[in-house]
Amino acid sequence: MKRKGTTPPARAARETPASTATAPAARLEKAPTHIQGLDDILEGGLPRDRTTVVNGASGSGKTLLGLEFLYRGALHGEPGIFIGFEEPPEQIRQNAATLGWDLPALEKQNRLFILDARLKPETLRSGNFSLKGLLAIAAGKSRAMGARRIVIDALEVALRLFDAPRQIRNELHALNNWLRDSGLTAILTIRPPSRSGASPSADFFESMADCLLVLDTRVTEQISTRRLRVIKYRGSGFGRNEYPYVISPTGLRMVPISTVRLRHKPLGEKSPPATPGWTKSWTAATAGPHASCWPGCPARARPRWRPRLSPPPARPASGCFTSASRNPKRP
Ligand SMILES: Nc1ncnc2c1ncn2[C@@H]1O[C@H](COP(=O)(O)OP(=O)(O)OP(=O)(O)O)[C@@H](O)[C@H]1O
Ligand SMILES: [Mg+2]
Repeated sequence: MKRKGTTPPARAARETPASTATAPAARLEKAPTHIQGLDDILEGGLPRDRTTVVNGASGSGKTLLGLEFLYRGALHGEPGIFIGFEEPPEQIRQNAATLGWDLPALEKQNRLFILDARLKPETLRSGNFSLKGLLAIAAGKSRAMGARRIVIDALEVALRLFDAPRQIRNELHALNNWLRDSGLTAILTIRPPSRSGASPSADFFESMADCLLVLDTRVTEQISTRRLRVIKYRGSGFGRNEYPYVISPTGLRMVPISTVRLRHKPLGEKSPPATPGWTKSWTAATAGPHASCWPGCPARARPRWRPRLSPPPARPASGCFTSASRNPKRP
């Protein structure tokens, strides 16, 4: 007879999985991009040893993003390979130099390898092309230099050579398998077709991407802005907004709006208020010639001791600004 309030041992083992089947949550390993702001959005970087697809229109900065990933990675001890289907290597080096990136120095030190994958006229004529040859070269180079990262830029240029969608899918399948086995953290950049209509490779790119980024340039009321959005990131959280970015004189700069924190440390000496009781919080919050902001605070609740700061400053004065959300009902 079954005893009330007890559970047979075998069933109990099955029904109490919480004690045995849970473990401390593992974190996906990530490769920091070292691109300003991007690692905040990606909560640490791109998925290590996996594939990220960067999709964006012409001039949105895909090549720069890929190159900066390799450039900064190489500076941080992770050699990388750039395979470009569109631009000649010399042009890539020159473009990078405008941002102060010395690619030839990294190439000499075997920390960067640029593989010119532009298609030769005879290949175009014969139609005899496969990604396999390129991947074999990349594999050899990767072993020789101990590469950790790879960027394949403007892959859609190569895929245009294949007439049949099936052929495109076969090539992408082979590439996907190669990347999985390579142990490299990969970025593939692709430009969507300018004419409307789905490309046969679009779905495949989306499914092979562990992380999918979209770069977008738009003009609103004659003002052009660049935005980045993470569409998906398998196995990780990520910033879900659209993030503005600029191409600054040293590279890409993303603005992770939802994750920015005040990191500015106050300068100079502390100047405590005369009113007792406020001293503790004031001391923690302020210092020296500065401005303090009290946001979201209705006028009545703002500190009353503002006029009584003492002693009168001999140095540039400390300021105290308050701000309040306006209530339309209360003028
Ligand atoms: N030194 C620089 N200073 C400011 N902006 C720059 C600099 N170098 C490049 N850019 C900007 O970067 C953009 C080009 O970036 P990139 O070549 O990465 O674009 P892309 O997305 O790869 O374009 P495409 O699809 O045509 O290859 C240009 O629009 C240019 O405005
Ligand atoms: Mg490009």
